[in-house]
Amino acid sequence: MCGIVGYVGPRDAVPLLVDGLKRLEYRGYDSAGLAVMEKGRLEIRKCVGRLAALEEKLAREPLSGAMGIGHTRWATHGEPSEINSHPHTDSTGRLAVVHNGIIENFEKLRAELEKKGHRFRSETDTEVIPHLIEQELREGAADLAEAIRRALGKARGAYALGILSLDDPETMYAARLGSPLIVGVGDGEQFIASDVPAILNQTRRVIYLEDGELAILRAGGVQVMRLDGTPVEPEVREVRFQPEAAERAGFETFMRKEIHEQPRVLRALLARHVNDSDEVNLADIGWSDEDWRPVRRIVIVSCGTAYYAGLYGRLIIEALTGTPVEVELGSEFRYRDAKLAPDILVVSVSQSGETADTLASIRLARRAGCRVLSICNTQGSSLARESDGLFYTEAGPEIGVASTKAYTAQLMAFALIAIYLGRLQGELTAEQEAGLVRDLRAVPDAIHYVLSREDEIRTVAGKHCDGPSALYLGRKFNYPTALEGALKNKEISYQHAEGYAAGEMKHGPIALINEYLPVVCICTRTRDEVYEKMISNMKEVEARHGRIIAVANDGDETVARLAGDMLVVPAVRDEFSPMVNVVALQLLAYFAAQARGTDIDKPRNLAKSVTVE
Ligand code: G6P
Repeated sequence: MCGIVGYVGPRDAVPLLVDGLKRLEYRGYDSAGLAVMEKGRLEIRKCVGRLAALEEKLAREPLSGAMGIGHTRWATHGEPSEINSHPHTDSTGRLAVVHNGIIENFEKLRAELEKKGHRFRSETDTEVIPHLIEQELREGAADLAEAIRRALGKARGAYALGILSLDDPETMYAARLGSPLIVGVGDGEQFIASDVPAILNQTRRVIYLEDGELAILRAGGVQVMRLDGTPVEPEVREVRFQPEAAERAGFETFMRKEIHEQPRVLRALLARHVNDSDEVNLADIGWSDEDWRPVRRIVIVSCGTAYYAGLYGRLIIEALTGTPVEVELGSEFRYRDAKLAPDILVVSVSQSGETADTLASIRLARRAGCRVLSICNTQGSSLARESDGLFYTEAGPEIGVASTKAYTAQLMAFALIAIYLGRLQGELTAEQEAGLVRDLRAVPDAIHYVLSREDEIRTVAGKHCDGPSALYLGRKFNYPTALEGALKNKEISYQHAEGYAAGEMKHGPIALINEYLPVVCICTRTRDEVYEKMISNMKEVEARHGRIIAVANDGDETVARLAGDMLVVPAVRDEFSPMVNVVALQLLAYFAAQARGTDIDKPRNLAKSVTVE
């Protein structure tokens, strides 16, 4: 969703803003713009489309100045157009604002402001902010900071804001409520950004603004206060990951690089959470055994790919512990009147830690007295800060919009939590735990093997990527894999794809099967009782001349006889096979997208971090 970058300091802001916005491109956007303070004037350039279009405009109409704000917009209110792009200004053109989030009461505010003579140019909710600030200045606010605080007191909804004004030409203002915003602390220069990668090549010292805080940035320093004016002592943190982690490292896309990082990410998680005696250790979460014991039920909440990780979480926790688990979409859970009690552990799952529906869900759960554990990839994110415990997936920045390494890291997190809890509850013996851990250790190498067979997967993708649709079938542990495989395909290749529990095939999707429909069947085997059932499903597809693409183990002759194409994966323990099998499907989607010529890292209409409802 919308990206924000801002700079104040001795250097020319324009190249820094453009560079920062490029690093935020992964968030998804449809237009872009900049406002720069230039020789006593506030200059704005904006346009529809990619940043390249903005760069062309800047080449035709150059800009420079020591302070500026930039924005990539993902349209919510009003179509992608130049007028609707940010920055937006007040009536005088002296004040410019960039915004991520939604001002929910903007219609009412706009009507009130129009009555007071304000004229609006765009259809956006954002435009009320500069006008509100202007109005507060007219009505006697002592200075810009007070005007901003008063204006924001009237706005309902979510925002991350960057604000510049000719009335205070050496100061940049930034405020947040519900949408992510960080301050980058440099040496004699300061930055703001929606996300760390935007400024990581400039500074690694970061202040994570809290909800309801206003930052006042001048080249020499940063001052933070609450919206009621109370000063806040900001905590400056050192960002752990290196700038190179947000680079493509020779891969043609971030997504391909992130797919290839999975063995390393999972090995690192195992190294962190498993000791030499093959025992799982979750000390990082900071909970004692006593904190886990009262848990009678687990409710997992998440969205998108992280929701499918939650479906796996239910399967693995119920398989290895005695605790019942439910899984909920954040967007449903928050409106469902769920019956919550303090003995329910709510586990939220999120790569970004900023997904609006997931955040709303944990806030609701905490109000009901539940303890919240978050499985999250972004330290310092809202979710991480608002949870009682954090399982940090440490996959490094995930830039490709379609999630890959964060997903397998989430699955690994659930596997580790399940083993830990199973042992704690006496459902697993030490020997069983060690056996599970040994099998878990085989996963990164198995993924490595799948990656080594990329070329075969590319060939299969090339054969089937033309059709309008594809069906993905799986059972039990690999039912979420089928859903996630289909989602990857939709997201990046734009081929319609449906994931289905294979047992449900007869209740509908079987009507779609003909000689043109690719049917991806996940049918790996070790000792899983659903293997035979998958074989029956594949026979039913074969009987209707569907094109079977099987994800299966090397040497499985039964599957090989049924399948038109095979994606060969190593056999690992059934419980952990989703981490391996999904990688074959990530690559299948990837090469289909490549063959179809889509923008893989930034698929149309999608946003990496969905910070609005
Ligand atoms: C968006 C992203 C998905 C992600 C989902 C949830 O839709 O494009 O890749 O799975 O949001 O995001 P989260 O950051 O909470 O995992």
